[in-house]
Amino acid sequence: MNDPLIWINDEIQSIHDNNLFRNLTELQTGQFPQIKIDNKSHVLLASNSYLGLSVDPRVINSSKSALEKYGTGSGGSRLVSGSSDLHRQLEERIAEFKNTEAAILFSSGYLANVGTISSIVGPDDIIFSDELNHASIIDGCKLSKAKTEIYKHLDLKHLEELISNNQSYKKKLVVTDTIFSMDGDLVNLRKLVEICEKFSCMLMIDEAHAMGVLGERGSGATEYFDVEKRVPIVMGTLSKAVGSLGGYVCGSQKLIDFIRNRVRTYIFDTSLPASSLAASIEAINIIENEKERRDNLWRLIKRFKAGIKNIGLEILPTHSAIIPVLIGEPEPALEFSRMLREKGVYSPAVRPPSVPTGKCRIRSSIMATHTEEKIDFALNAFKEVYEIVYS
Ligand SMILES: Cc1ncc(COP(=O)(O)O)c(C=O)c1O
Repeated sequence: MNDPLIWINDEIQSIHDNNLFRNLTELQTGQFPQIKIDNKSHVLLASNSYLGLSVDPRVINSSKSALEKYGTGSGGSRLVSGSSDLHRQLEERIAEFKNTEAAILFSSGYLANVGTISSIVGPDDIIFSDELNHASIIDGCKLSKAKTEIYKHLDLKHLEELISNNQSYKKKLVVTDTIFSMDGDLVNLRKLVEICEKFSCMLMIDEAHAMGVLGERGSGATEYFDVEKRVPIVMGTLSKAVGSLGGYVCGSQKLIDFIRNRVRTYIFDTSLPASSLAASIEAINIIENEKERRDNLWRLIKRFKAGIKNIGLEILPTHSAIIPVLIGEPEPALEFSRMLREKGVYSPAVRPPSVPTGKCRIRSSIMATHTEEKIDFALNAFKEVYEIVYS
């Protein structure tokens, strides 16, 4: 019998030919500022646990207690197998933190985006989506079968033009990351809100990389731009600064009631386990109460950015803990990352389809738990690699 999967050989070869084959890097530790790979110590510049909370002893203890009380799995979807008090408590905590009427949990941010977008618009509707939106937003748009207009990255003039030319649709959705996952830059959310209000568009934002990082209380871009009550659909994830797992959508009670009844990635998916729920509640309390963590994060971000610029490398215009150092083609980006590894720094090369062709980069991410010494150690490694590569 012929191998029915023979076509995969060509696909894999083509991935290799383009230097786009992906391999895993195995860490022997959790997401600490200093990690072990192959028994060797490395400074970790690759984590989205921006505040270091995934390994915070208080978060771990809350998670452990919940694990002992509730066990490992949640047993099924909440509508069928029952919803725990921790699910409710975390939803209430998120709604309070994000200053919205209500919130609803998903098993991941990916599922929150895909399910919500594909339920709130359909084939007769239109979506306006930033060209660098996260894959989960793109997939949600595709699944919805709505007409999708892509506007140039952060170009709100272009967005306005596209909306003006498509006024006749009854339901219009504008969707965007607030902080972009691979570029770290930030949408002008106040201006975006004004545009959506002017044209009666629904606005949905993805706060994945903003929660914990932006705003006095650390709740994200809605707080930072003082528009908490003006964004009708706010999505986020608990897997980054919160250091746990899960996604959420928050907004009005009627939006949440609609999602609970209509969104398939909520209805037909096993809910989060208690250990993740308790970890998130504890982490959100820390985010809100320990502003000094965020202050330290921003101090270290500034130090790292200044150091990279001093070396002569190009940083894309970021406004977050994500520092993209532009390299260009896949092979030199991989080589740069490999050489950093040799010098004890783990910072991955990001290639298409995660970023546009020709825009490969080293995506470094800073954590509040890094120290100035670790940042300087990493900068020194960047400098040495830069001197070898560009001399
Ligand atoms: C902007 C953005 N949205 C959504 C997601 C998906 O969230 P999760 O990892 O919780 O599925 C991610 C990251 O993975 C992201 O970067």
